[in-house]
Amino acid sequence: MKQEIFSIMSNQLPPSKQQLPSQKNSRLFILGRETTLSLAEIKAFFESRNLDFSIGFQSENKLVVESTNFPDSAQTIKRLGGTIKICEPIGVVRNSPIELADRLNEYIPEGKIEFSVNDSKSLGIETKKRLKNLGRSARYIEANNTATVIYNNLVKKGADIIIVNNIAFATKGIQSIDEFSARDFGRPGRDDESGMLPPKLAMMMINLATQPLDSVIYDPFCGSGTVVTEAMLMGYKNIIGSDSSEVAINDTQKNVTWLLDRYNLDINNFNLDIFQYDATLISKRIKQNSIDAIVAEPFLGKPMRGNELISAIESQASELKYLYTKAFAEMYKVLKPNGIIVFIIPRFHVKNEWVKIDCEKEIEKLGFENASILPDQKHLLYWRETQHVGREIWRFRKI
Ligand SMILES: C[S@@+](CC[C@H](N)C(=O)[O-])C[C@H]1O[C@@H](n2cnc3c(N)ncnc32)[C@H](O)[C@@H]1O
Repeated sequence: MKQEIFSIMSNQLPPSKQQLPSQKNSRLFILGRETTLSLAEIKAFFESRNLDFSIGFQSENKLVVESTNFPDSAQTIKRLGGTIKICEPIGVVRNSPIELADRLNEYIPEGKIEFSVNDSKSLGIETKKRLKNLGRSARYIEANNTATVIYNNLVKKGADIIIVNNIAFATKGIQSIDEFSARDFGRPGRDDESGMLPPKLAMMMINLATQPLDSVIYDPFCGSGTVVTEAMLMGYKNIIGSDSSEVAINDTQKNVTWLLDRYNLDINNFNLDIFQYDATLISKRIKQNSIDAIVAEPFLGKPMRGNELISAIESQASELKYLYTKAFAEMYKVLKPNGIIVFIIPRFHVKNEWVKIDCEKEIEKLGFENASILPDQKHLLYWRETQHVGREIWRFRKI
């Protein structure tokens, strides 16, 4: 999906934007596959920390953010599910190897300079020659993917350079592919039948809830506990997870234990409540007006093959609409006033058509308002073309 809502191609930029006004106050974010969702997550991340945020430039997966108080890039990348790299400006480079070599010479003042530069092998090779002329030992690495940057240790020891609008940015934070994949595929409690939220998406959804770390976060359809465990890792302490299935609750508990061990976390620092319960009855178990935010991927219907009859999928859609509306009525009771719900509503791709679940009006009638992070996007879509189920990510506020 390449929705370029703020997109302006560099050659169409007004002269004032051709060079960023203050390099110090900009960071380049390389966004994940769902660029609009990634952008919404970054905006939510800044808003929830009261950091000023504006967009200097966006094209496809490159987003230049301007702010006067950026948090540390290497730490921030660990808290964002939808960002692949965070890069800091090192100086002006007008696509010339001479200028890039000068910038690298300053950036890595001693030892061998190992570097990569985006999309341009010839620039890399010419820059290496120029560095040799300057008396520096240099190695150019053609790094077309994140793994090559990580395995060559270019973030800590070398320089992974990305040039945007004549500014060279060096990567300072890079998403850990290995950690995400360990949490996705290495956790002991798995339910491939009901499906599990990818940890990156769970992290993005938690960020979209824009909650401070002392809030109470709740997932009433917790399954094997991805929202619970990602929230723990992000620093939340008060977390509730429930599910109608006993197996799911056992899986969540196993995954919590696994996470504590893998990340050396102390269970005593958390206030966790994990229990079996039907989401359409939860106000009988959870105190009214006690939850700050609900983040959930509910039951999405039976696993699909793509050859189902549209009528069968439509009938499943109306059953799910009934379940979600009932769950929202209960979630309303347990949420604090102004409480937030970040919730997945599935849409089904059958025979090149979408069958959607339209429950926005019912949810609004219960006392919620749409509280999307990006005002021109009522919801955000997470979907790959090979998938039969797309996930719409909605954000509501209890009025
Ligand atoms: C798609 S899975 C959620 C997966 C979860 N997000 C994860 O990452 O593991 C949906 C879950 O909803 C649960 N469920 C279905 N109906 C429910 C209900 N009425 N109340 C609570 N949980 C329900 C299922 O047991 C299942 O675990």
